[in-house]
Amino acid sequence: VSEDEKTEDYLFKIVLVGDSAVGKSNLLARFARNEFYPNSKSTIGVEFQTQKIDINGKEVKAQVWDTAGQERFRAVTSAYYRGAVGALLVYDISRRQTFDSIGRWLNELQTHSDMNVVTILVGNKSDLKDAREVPTSEGKALAEAQGLFYMETSALDSSNVAAAFQTVVKEIY
Ligand code: GTP
Ligand code: MG
Repeated sequence: VSEDEKTEDYLFKIVLVGDSAVGKSNLLARFARNEFYPNSKSTIGVEFQTQKIDINGKEVKAQVWDTAGQERFRAVTSAYYRGAVGALLVYDISRRQTFDSIGRWLNELQTHSDMNVVTILVGNKSDLKDAREVPTSEGKALAEAQGLFYMETSALDSSNVAAAFQTVVKEIY
């Protein structure tokens, strides 16, 4: 088997979930292309990108799916979640409302996907320190109560973006 074929061995579907404008598409852009869009528009329908991840020296591929937070722009829910083995449940640390929505998103995720989908709660926009509305301790507490991994990220300054995806893929693998 050639090196090329070996890399096809592991392809994990991971879904991004959360309210509009929390930064789902920018987390994916940062992770897959190391890009950031200060004025990105709402996602319409569904997009996905595949990115290689190194797990203990083995190459794994994460196929990350992204859809809109707003109902009217969203992909068909059941198709979006079908086959997902990992999920990033994203809120914006500078908008409490997006954190309050997490319960609803978690409910949708659990309704439409496999019971043991590896999930991480992600508090994005950690760079917006002065605008913070959700303390780290609250994010951590919710994650613990729900049995989720937890991390704060910034798609803007890159902090923890790769780490968040890696945490999920490592656990699946
Ligand atoms: P929908 O597609 O509507 O569901 O939104 P989304 O969750 O994909 O949000 P998107 O990635 O489009 O980002 C929304 C806005 O937040 C954009 O203006 C981004 O530039 C900004 N943004 C995303 N991530 C960060 C971040 O980590 N820090 C800061 N300061 N801004 C961010
Ligand atoms: Mg988007």
